[in-house]
Amino acid sequence: MLAGKKIVLGVSGSIAAYKAVFLLRLLVKAGAQVKVIMTKPATDFVAPLSFSTLSHNPVLVEFSTPDGSWNNHVELANWADLIILAPASANTIGKLALGLCDNLLLATLFSASCPVYVAPAMDREMYISDSIKKNIERLAKQGRIIIPSEEGELASGLHGEGRMAEPEHIVQFIEETISKGLPLYGKKALVTAGPTYEAIDPVRFIGNYSSGKMGFAIAEELADKGASVTLVHGPVSISTKNSAIKVIGVTSAEEMHKECIKAFPQADITVMSAAVADYRPSIRSGEKIKKTEGTLKLELVPNTDILSELGKKKAAKQLLVGFALETNDEIKNASAKLKRKNLDAIVLNSMRNKGAGPGGDTNKITIIDRQNKTTTFELKAKNAVATDIVSYIVELKMKNEK
Ligand code: CTP
Repeated sequence: MLAGKKIVLGVSGSIAAYKAVFLLRLLVKAGAQVKVIMTKPATDFVAPLSFSTLSHNPVLVEFSTPDGSWNNHVELANWADLIILAPASANTIGKLALGLCDNLLLATLFSASCPVYVAPAMDREMYISDSIKKNIERLAKQGRIIIPSEEGELASGLHGEGRMAEPEHIVQFIEETISKGLPLYGKKALVTAGPTYEAIDPVRFIGNYSSGKMGFAIAEELADKGASVTLVHGPVSISTKNSAIKVIGVTSAEEMHKECIKAFPQADITVMSAAVADYRPSIRSGEKIKKTEGTLKLELVPNTDILSELGKKKAAKQLLVGFALETNDEIKNASAKLKRKNLDAIVLNSMRNKGAGPGGDTNKITIIDRQNKTTTFELKAKNAVATDIVSYIVELKMKNEK
């Protein structure tokens, strides 16, 4: 959720500044790029070196540097995807609420158009005082997002409200706030990916060239858009990044079928991109098949078409998207598959397009809907193709829910 995000962490003068060091560690661990701005009083509590070491960026305190150059607050504010003011002291909250701007941190906050999260930190009597409460309310009215302080032991020795939220809670709060604004927040998705292996004997199988890259990229994109994703995949050598993806590894089509049947009733969106083997050997030899003089004949029996099964069970509010890999009469064949399997849309890969299909890093797709409307996309990296597919799904979902 925070991976790749550019974050300005503003630290103002409070004993809770030491907790901002832990917060910085969590943000960096989550994959965010962080620049820290401190107020002068904050540097009395924690040395800037702690923040610069962990953020791998110089810590900014003053408007200008000793060599006479300027720390541009507008550039800093524009760089940030979000700003976290933690700890937010009573003094900094007051100045931010009233429009007073006497340091680099405040100037950056006033220049920002991105979301600003404020984590107040102060002693109980200050926190519950009428004027500070009003200032916090003013900030909320101005659109700043307040991270409620927590109850507990305070620096004064008192016990009560005012303690800055724990760093883990701040990260959780921000991640939840971001998720709630995403188009697929609260939705569940099921994705299949990769090949299936159909065992011949303990050392041999029938498989295919699918790498799982397309399905994994779709699962990541759905999760990045806020969905909780169950990813059922065959044997692949890739892994997921987003923690909102529940990964279930299987080997054969039968195992994939079992897992899909379990997850499908809860899924609002299902995307079946796995290259499922249509047949499996009728007998799986318990021992390695030995070489003999003559020809070896394998009898193959059909696997269940998982997608067709799900199409039969599909409720009206569920969105079901399949893939079609074709070599000829592509649109005709894919449209027929869409109807036969009762899908809402089908993603067509033509093997005649160079750079499309299983195995590689790119794909070129056409999406066909129930009305036979086709949307064709350029050849792109599989991540970018996943973005196109998921944007299409989000639009389709919105249309269906109207
Ligand atoms: N599929 C499935 N279970 C199977 C076979 C296919 O769920 N046993 C799904 C794939 O994940 C894909 C879609 O069905 O979303 C179409 O797969 P494809 O191989 O193109 O088509 P088939 O239905 O197998 O037809 P054919 O191989 O004859 O083209």
